[in-house]
Amino acid sequence: MIRHLLSGADPDLATATQILDTAAEMATVAGREVKKLPALRGRTVVNLFYEDSTRTRISFEAAAKRLSADVINFSAKGSSVTKGESLKDTALTLQAMGADAVVVRHPASGAPHRLANWVDGSVVNAGDGTHEHPTQALLDAYTMRSRLGRLAGLHVAIVGDVLHSRVARSNVLLLSTLGAKVTLVGPPTLIPMDISAALAPGTAVSYDLDAVLPDVDVVMMLRVQRERMNDSYFPSAREYSRRFGLDGPRMRRLPEHAIVMHPGPMNRGMEITPEVADSPRSTIVEQVANGVSVRMAVLYLLLGGNNL
Ligand code: NCD
Repeated sequence: MIRHLLSGADPDLATATQILDTAAEMATVAGREVKKLPALRGRTVVNLFYEDSTRTRISFEAAAKRLSADVINFSAKGSSVTKGESLKDTALTLQAMGADAVVVRHPASGAPHRLANWVDGSVVNAGDGTHEHPTQALLDAYTMRSRLGRLAGLHVAIVGDVLHSRVARSNVLLLSTLGAKVTLVGPPTLIPMDISAALAPGTAVSYDLDAVLPDVDVVMMLRVQRERMNDSYFPSAREYSRRFGLDGPRMRRLPEHAIVMHPGPMNRGMEITPEVADSPRSTIVEQVANGVSVRMAVLYLLLGGNNL
């Protein structure tokens, strides 16, 4: 097993499969009346969040608690970080407190990698800048596998603000390990030039959503990340929705079995309409539920848990 989970490229096929299989076992716990396992009793998991987050932070907290770990939530607001304490000093504090795992979200790409050099425990990247978000990719893969029965050979379109999306990056890396084919779709301004060469060879790029839809098994819509944009990347929100938003008529171009995903939070009406988000093809709520099982599996395996 790997020691840290920093990138969607960290797990090889065997490890990724082990994580997904373990997550399926963890999911059975969620259906029980007592949703708790003793596997990480006496271990400490620190959630270190330097950036706002709702579902990811709650999901990691629920995952650690279901495994009986002690959980310390540390958010940058109200901590010494606002007094200018460096990431390294915070890391040394966590180290002194005996953290077995540190789950970190940080606005700077690469921050979790730095942290991994400073602590003895395992580091899990819960989103670093525009770089990576590997547990999101794992829960997405888990959701695809449970809805469609397989991952190898699937065709996945990832649509929208690829440039600013750590979700897209981690998905491209992990899906290529799992044998799925990815097509990135969006306006040229939001698709980095070197993306397929830099990430996974074989990743296709298209600027025409309508042309891609009839051929995919999965369409993953990305949030337009206005908070990370300091330029105008497209003429107007209306124009963006018209070309790259998923609405009812577009959804009906998909093959019968195809599913629609979104990592949340959604801009309803911008990249996805309520009709699509709330349709039976949408896996958006399942993704959130699966997130807890997948994060349980990741923490359990990284911390070398036994007695499952
Ligand atoms: C994503 C994130 O924060 O990277 N959301 C999430 O983790 N559920 C995607 C986003 O913010 O658009």
